[in-house]
Amino acid sequence: MWLSSLLVLVASSTVLAIPAPTITRRQNSSSDLGSCPGYAASNVVKTDSSLTADLTLAGSACNVYSDDLQDLKLLVEYQSDQRLHVKVYDAGLNVFQVQESIIPRPKSGGSSSSAALQFDLVEKPFSFTVKRKENGEVLFDTSAAQLVFETQYVRLRTKLPDNPNLYGLGEHSDSFRLTTQNYQRVLWNTESPNLPKNTNLYGTHPVYFDHRGDKGTHGVFLLNSNGMNVNINNTAEDGQYLEYNTVGGIIDLYFLAGKQPADVSSQYAEVVGHSAMFPYWTFGFHQCKYGYWDVNMVAEVVGNYSTAGIPLEVMWTDIDYMDLRQDFTEDPERFDLHKMRELVDTLHSRDQRYVLILDPGIHYITNYTTYTSGHEQGVFLKAADGSDWLGSQWAGVVAWPDWFAQNTQQWWSDQFSTFYNADTGIDIDGIWVDMNEASNFCDSTTCNPYNKGGAPIPTHPPRPNTGRPIPGFPADFQPSGTRDVEARRAEPLYPRQSGTGSSKGLPNREWFFPKYHINSHNGDLPDFTIFTNLSNADGTMQYDTHNFYGHMMAHTTQATMLTRRPELRPFVLTRSTFAGSGRKVTHWFGDNASDWEHYRVSIRQMLAFVSMHQMPMVGSDVCGFNGDADEFMCARWALLGAFQPFYRNHAELSSRQQEFYQWPRVAEAGKKAIDTRYKLMDYAYTALYYQTTDGTPMINPVFFLYPNDENTFGIQEQWFYGDALLVSPVTTDYSDTVTIYFPEDTFYDYWTYEKVVGQGQNVTRSGVQYNEIPVHIRGGTIIPQRANSANTTKLLRQQDFVILVAPGSDGNAKGRLYLDDGESIEQPAISEIAFAWDGKTFSCTGSFAYGGAQGESITVDKVIFLGLGSSGAGGNGTQTGNGTQAGTVEKQGPWKLDGEFSFTL
Ligand code: GLC
Repeated sequence: MWLSSLLVLVASSTVLAIPAPTITRRQNSSSDLGSCPGYAASNVVKTDSSLTADLTLAGSACNVYSDDLQDLKLLVEYQSDQRLHVKVYDAGLNVFQVQESIIPRPKSGGSSSSAALQFDLVEKPFSFTVKRKENGEVLFDTSAAQLVFETQYVRLRTKLPDNPNLYGLGEHSDSFRLTTQNYQRVLWNTESPNLPKNTNLYGTHPVYFDHRGDKGTHGVFLLNSNGMNVNINNTAEDGQYLEYNTVGGIIDLYFLAGKQPADVSSQYAEVVGHSAMFPYWTFGFHQCKYGYWDVNMVAEVVGNYSTAGIPLEVMWTDIDYMDLRQDFTEDPERFDLHKMRELVDTLHSRDQRYVLILDPGIHYITNYTTYTSGHEQGVFLKAADGSDWLGSQWAGVVAWPDWFAQNTQQWWSDQFSTFYNADTGIDIDGIWVDMNEASNFCDSTTCNPYNKGGAPIPTHPPRPNTGRPIPGFPADFQPSGTRDVEARRAEPLYPRQSGTGSSKGLPNREWFFPKYHINSHNGDLPDFTIFTNLSNADGTMQYDTHNFYGHMMAHTTQATMLTRRPELRPFVLTRSTFAGSGRKVTHWFGDNASDWEHYRVSIRQMLAFVSMHQMPMVGSDVCGFNGDADEFMCARWALLGAFQPFYRNHAELSSRQQEFYQWPRVAEAGKKAIDTRYKLMDYAYTALYYQTTDGTPMINPVFFLYPNDENTFGIQEQWFYGDALLVSPVTTDYSDTVTIYFPEDTFYDYWTYEKVVGQGQNVTRSGVQYNEIPVHIRGGTIIPQRANSANTTKLLRQQDFVILVAPGSDGNAKGRLYLDDGESIEQPAISEIAFAWDGKTFSCTGSFAYGGAQGESITVDKVIFLGLGSSGAGGNGTQTGNGTQAGTVEKQGPWKLDGEFSFTL
């Protein structure tokens, strides 16, 4: 009844207002580009800090994919000693440039004389090189091919040395070190179930790291949000190259000199912004599933975790909680508000947290105030006739917030302040924004959103009151409520309004099917998303801004969360991201599968996001999203996830339940994983803190710490958690064997303290049980741990510290510890503590303002020295491992971390 009445309305209105496509699609053929004339530079003006020039088309236009621009400008800025900015843009300033509000531009204040990089120009045909001054290494050389700058196609190619070590250009599920022959990275954010390879996924991060061993590492960031194919190839004719092909925007390059890999991370953070500091509790263990079909079931999962003795910090609920899948509503039968409030109160009383999901598509229906108020305030993207432009998402037919519209932030905050009101609504601790690429169930320009279904609306009745108590919940905690679903669905649609949009960037472009084709796995630009011919409220076009729609939703939501609790760090998890998203929000890798390949993929995605895209708080759906998780894999994944920054078990609607307590083997592995993760939480939190202050990554690819060891360049199944713990999980199906690469250095088994002298070789370890994951401490480091784990992060903070000292080959070690209250934006008092061991004396220095909230411990119980057993004073000479002398020396405290202390062994 509901659907048929809608279809009548649809038939009588111009729902889509989309002209039929007129352009015939062409294959991208690079041979046509051979006739392009390139540009000639003139009026070159140099100062100590910059260079400018005019660029003029150097012959007849080739107009291969659109029209060549006649006049361009070149701006080169030595922005700092380590950063060079090279910008090629249209003289008329019409071509789209990413708004400053999306990426605030870094300040420029360097000088060519002190810069690490050198820019050299060839005037005709125009090309340039970027060199590392210190060793003359050419990092970038655009003479590889003529520059092509058309209205809907820009090409820039650089030569590279053979077999370069390139990383980044996310989001992708490909190898961590990128393939260098016949390889393409596609950047166009899109819905990507099962994370297909060699194509685009949910996010766009046009930055690559180029690692050249002892010649240094540098980074190249292209600040351009248009759809692009980045081709990396090596042919007999052209040699090795990397080539940007975009369908718009300008060439806006930032060269980051390094020279160590982590220096490039820091320098990139200076361009796109440093990560926010996230709450301490976000390092806790999270549980979610699509398909917890009533509030009772959610409570049961929480109860089951506590019965199983597995600490659960954060409980999540997916779109199941919504009424008809509408944002800011709760299903009155299954997720009755009164019960939801009881659930949240109970969680909070146990120091647990609660997170809910939101999608950008706002149900287009009249009795829904989120839609009607948004419509009245003009917050939605508009069709050509000024009506709200419609697509399809979980709720059915939906309108889409225009994050650039003047009232959108306020309207969004208003929805939050009512629905997530601490006194009258659901008092969430964090929020999850999903489907924000944006993912539209409409697959093409001819799709009618009214013919697309939303998500399955639950048909099963709420479960009857069983009378069985749920551990930790009030005795009467049971679902309740009734409503007339059909009546609510039968409401008429909102009438259409008139109005006009405006445009910015070049006008009159082919918005849907530019001749140059972006190889998105989801088809053409407008397919499965918001149409690329829509204008935003600031006059720019979705064609140009599509890739940061999700970023804007996430950042708007973060600002909204701040209005709810201005004093607390917001926690926002987003699926879609753009360069700079990490300044405010966190990310999970989307809809992976419950299989071993996606277990492995999660490692390389983490490596790229943390160390190269400046998004430290990331992780995959632990045990996998699509398909049924297998017990053995889930046990391994429970341990794997514990050494990744964001640790959430999540699964799809039809997947079997995969909470850690579902299988004894997984419960055991999960307990051990969480126990270890929690003991190490301050160590990880400290690493996050330093990433937020100077960009040094909290997860290190192995080559970041051994940049001259070629064997490490391709490693993608081992990583450093922080800079001290080498994690080497079993990565193959049903195997108990792992091949561990040990660089030439001193290591200690984290579990046994056994000393391992790395020889720059692989070592095979067998018999790794399902509750084990090999972890080694890198010599030269000091790790602060909590002496015991706890059920929640709040209780964890009451545990004393134990300090592990792992001397390096030279006998020395150092480490650090950052302490604060874990959640306030303005920290009244923090401690930044440095530990050092020089072979004789252990010292603790730094600043010690954080005294600990009530009940929290800042006491060090003891300091444990590894590998000193046979020589150190008081050593117990413990014999561990395969005959290796791995004694430890323990020095008993206590010491308070409220001032300096030292002692000598
Ligand atoms: C998307 C999300 C997934 C979520 C589902 C339902 O597929 O990626 O995590 O469970 O939507 O909301």
